Amino acid sequence: MNERQTHPATRTVVSTQSETTEIILPNDTNMLGYLLGGRLMHFIDLTAAMAAYRHARTHVVTAAMDHIDFIRPVRLGDLVILKSSVNRAFTSSMEVGVKVWAEDMRSGVVEHVASAYLVFVAVDEQGHARRVPQLMPETADEQRRYEDALRRREHRESESARRKEAKQAVAQARP
Ligand SMILES: CC(C)(COP(=O)(O)OP(=O)(O)OC[C@H]1O[C@@H](n2cnc3c(N)ncnc32)[C@H](O)[C@@H]1OP(=O)(O)O)[C@@H](O)C(=O)NCCC(=O)NCCS
Repeated sequence: MNERQTHPATRTVVSTQSETTEIILPNDTNMLGYLLGGRLMHFIDLTAAMAAYRHARTHVVTAAMDHIDFIRPVRLGDLVILKSSVNRAFTSSMEVGVKVWAEDMRSGVVEHVASAYLVFVAVDEQGHARRVPQLMPETADEQRRYEDALRRREHRESESARRKEAKQAVAQARP
C-alpha cells in the first residue's frame, strides 16, 4: 500500500454508474447460437472495471469475480445491456455489482439474464495497491448494497482462509 498518499474525497454511487450495450454476433456464440459464457464474463469484467475506474480514478485490476448464475441464454442478434456501479469501497479494494439484461431485437422484450459481484483493487504504476475514496450511499437500495458488500467481503475472506488451510493440509499429508 502506498502510505504516502493522503486519503481522497468521498464519492457517490451515481458517479460510478456505468453502462455497456453489445450486439451478439456469430463470433460471440456457440453452435446453438447462444452467447458464450466466457464472452459474457468478459463484458461483465469490462463494465465493472469502468465503475471501479470512475470511483478510483487510477489503474484498477480485477482481484476476484464471485460466482455468476446464467439465468437464461442470450441469443444471436440479441442486445446485451450491462449496468454496473460500486457497492462499497474498502481501503484499496472496491466491490462492484453488475446486472445484465438481454433485449430481443424483434419483440423488444428485455429480460434479466445474469448478475455478478467483482472485486477490483486500485493500483499505482508499479502495481502496488493504493487507497481509494470512500463511497457514500444515498438511497435505501444503495445502503442495502453497501451493507451486503461487507458481508460478502467477510465471506470471501473466510472462504479464502479455508482454501489456504485445505491446501496446507494436503501439502503436509504428502509423503
Ligand atoms: C489484486 C492485487 C493488486 C492485490 O495485491 P496484494 O499485494 O495481495 O495486496 P494486499 O494484500 O495489500 O491487498 C490489497 C487489497 O486487495 C484485496 N484483495 C487481494 N486479493 C484479493 C482477492 N483474491 N479477492 C478479493 N480481494 C482481494 C485485499 O482485501 C485488500 O483490500 P483492502 O485494501 O480494501 O483491504 C494483486 O493480487 C494482483 O495484482 N493480482 C493480479 C490482478 C490481475 O492481474 N487481474 C487480472 C487483470 S486486471
